[in-house]
Amino acid sequence: MAPEPRTVEQQPDHYDTFAAAYARANENGLFNRWYARPAVLALLGEVAGRAIVDAGCGSGPLLSDLTDRGASVAGFDSSRAMIDLARERLGSEADLRVADLTQTLPYDDAAFDDALAVLVLHYLQDWSRPLSELRRVLKPGGRLVVVVNHPIIPPVMYPDVDYFATVPNQEDYDFDGVRATLTIWYRSLSAMSESFTASGFRISTISEPPVAPDTPPELLPANETDPSRFIGFIFFVLEAVQMRQDLA
Ligand SMILES: C[S@@+](CC[C@H](N)C(=O)[O-])C[C@H]1O[C@@H](n2cnc3c(N)ncnc32)[C@H](O)[C@@H]1O
Repeated sequence: MAPEPRTVEQQPDHYDTFAAAYARANENGLFNRWYARPAVLALLGEVAGRAIVDAGCGSGPLLSDLTDRGASVAGFDSSRAMIDLARERLGSEADLRVADLTQTLPYDDAAFDDALAVLVLHYLQDWSRPLSELRRVLKPGGRLVVVVNHPIIPPVMYPDVDYFATVPNQEDYDFDGVRATLTIWYRSLSAMSESFTASGFRISTISEPPVAPDTPPELLPANETDPSRFIGFIFFVLEAVQMRQDLA
């Protein structure tokens, strides 16, 4: 029988307890280095001169990639330990803050051309305030790139779960030898789309990319017809729609 989803409240500082191990695993691991990060950079395209905020930036690998490409970056994370690691990477002058995506964000209205929420929204049950805040800090026409666990995972892995319900599932991970338990909130594709629209975004792109072409073959799953493709994350590029207050 499929395992029942398990529930536990995940606190915003949860990553403090395994920040260094997660950052080590993230640095060169299949899911981050060879899958999520190259796909996000490809979706963003040319970023030179753009102001970009990374929500839940972790130890800042994407901030570093974007800086190298000429963007002007800011990042925040609810884990102080993660922000300390990002500061080691990006230097003391970098705009890095400890902030919680479920609260008011410490930035002015329309401060950014683009925003990223990579592998962070799926920790949150209610997306309305986080998305509204990200919309507020973006210029009209700005982009938000969202990456979350793919909504097809529960129907495949937990067939007893109602696909149309927004449900938490407690999952065990091994980050470079350190065990961590994370609570992922799964929701249907249409629930995601409705949240985006309600917060002032329009979906420009939905992507289910392969891994980067130069991924070391030993990292790829065995026994797959095409090991460069697997069900992992779903990627969205959203456009910040102009709203009445933008015209005021
Ligand atoms: C899976 S890691 C992804 C890190 C980074 N985005 C990346 O792709 O490398 C998730 C990050 O989200 C942060 N996080 C979780 N809940 C958050 C919240 N409510 N507000 C801000 N950051 C949060 C965690 O502390 C962690 O650093």
